Amino acid sequence: MSFDLVLFGGTGDLAWRKLMPALFQAFRHGSLPEGGRIIGVARDDLSDDSYRELIQSRFAAVEGAKRPTPEEFKQFASMLYFLRMDLSRPDDYARLAELLKARNVDNVVMYLATAPGLFTQVVEQIAAAGLNGPQTRLVLEKPLGHDLASNRAINHAVRDVLSEQQIFRIDHYLGKPSVQNLFAMRFGNALFEPIWRREYIANIQITIAEDLGVEKRGAFYDQTGALRDMVQNHALQLVCALGMEPPINAHADAIRDEKLKVLRALKPWTTESIGMHAIRGQYTAGTAYGERVQGYRDEPGVDPDSRTETFVALRTEIANWRWAGVPLYIRTGKRLASRDARIEVNFRQTPHAIFRAPTNAFNKLVINLQPKDGLELHLLAQAQDKRQRNGSRHAGPQLAPVQLDLDFDKRFGSERVGAYERLLLDVIDGRLNLFVRSDEQEEAWRWVEPLIDSWSSDGAPRPYAAGTWGPSASSAMIARDGYAWGEEQ
Ligand code: BG6
Repeated sequence: MSFDLVLFGGTGDLAWRKLMPALFQAFRHGSLPEGGRIIGVARDDLSDDSYRELIQSRFAAVEGAKRPTPEEFKQFASMLYFLRMDLSRPDDYARLAELLKARNVDNVVMYLATAPGLFTQVVEQIAAAGLNGPQTRLVLEKPLGHDLASNRAINHAVRDVLSEQQIFRIDHYLGKPSVQNLFAMRFGNALFEPIWRREYIANIQITIAEDLGVEKRGAFYDQTGALRDMVQNHALQLVCALGMEPPINAHADAIRDEKLKVLRALKPWTTESIGMHAIRGQYTAGTAYGERVQGYRDEPGVDPDSRTETFVALRTEIANWRWAGVPLYIRTGKRLASRDARIEVNFRQTPHAIFRAPTNAFNKLVINLQPKDGLELHLLAQAQDKRQRNGSRHAGPQLAPVQLDLDFDKRFGSERVGAYERLLLDVIDGRLNLFVRSDEQEEAWRWVEPLIDSWSSDGAPRPYAAGTWGPSASSAMIARDGYAWGEEQ
């Protein structure tokens, strides 16, 4: 299958940090169809050769096995091209059309790795230049809007010129191997499904913790905040993967129909629940990697009086027959104690105790997303067979927590297909399974919008020191239900 991939924002941060490395890995793994072109588009004054040199100089900074050998880069570079474009000029789209028409490829992928404010304009111009034919696939990076209305406006503009089947809204969490394994675990095994419900599960916790601060993205982040940056998309997609009903097959719409139902079933926010179950925080100076780091308001590009949240902890519920009454906790933040993304499914205690066990021990399934990628099943076992002189005979044997540990990197090798590599190949192949449909995205915005409204008009986030697990109100919220956040490593 032949393809052209047009990378709008071809010299930008995303192209460099994620897309080029992912395309190179796909090339190295032999998965990129031969004869494809990758056309970087930007305002810079570059030729094909100087673009290749730029990419090469950036790859030179990559450490370890991910860096291409000179021979590999030479081959990869033969796919790279550059087109200088001013995205507001119709003439420049005409030049793009000419470049594309020179070859009659099966798929033309237009990847918008640009500022989201440009999406509507670029899409309209693409159509005006006649570049919205059936072979076109459009990839849209998040954030797609900053609230429900702006998200809808983008979706309308895009759907005016392309069909839903041609639109690939990326949420890179869906491309993570651990998230695909969550689908595999739930719907490829008979073991979990019967107990995957309120009768057996006490609560679910999703943690996406980062130890990094806002890095060089202060100006962008200050307009965005953790709720829009992480919860509206990544965290809610994890909620869908955890909570959805088994789809009737593995086709994109069957999966997306079920995900949509989960989003629709999320408990709507009220003033009272926002007050009790939605905590926001903002980091102050503290420690990261053993060094003193500055607070959020001192980061470059951030308003010194900013009220933008860098931490969110929420308690919600999927209000349907399967999940009613099961608390679902979500927390995410920057400059937390470690980089740690994980889902914990905590099962109920045994209905009657005949053994002695630590009071807070129960079965739990942990799905590790990063830095480790794997599954842990926490069980209770009789750890030793020694007679316990001090304990009462009638109390029965003492149980201790043990765990079954499945490390996917060890099991399948660490050279696995990364999130962006997988998603880019899916776009080229036209597989929509791991992309977000417009109605899902709108529903997710609808759910977070009361929080956005309330936080924009009310008070400031709670401070927390960099290098901690966020404001203490987050632990207090979950403690009110009699639970605690899983181990904070
Ligand atoms: C991005 C957010 O979508 O996801 C970033 O904009 C965040 O702020 C990143 O750092 C986290 O992705 P990952 O794959 O490193 O967990």
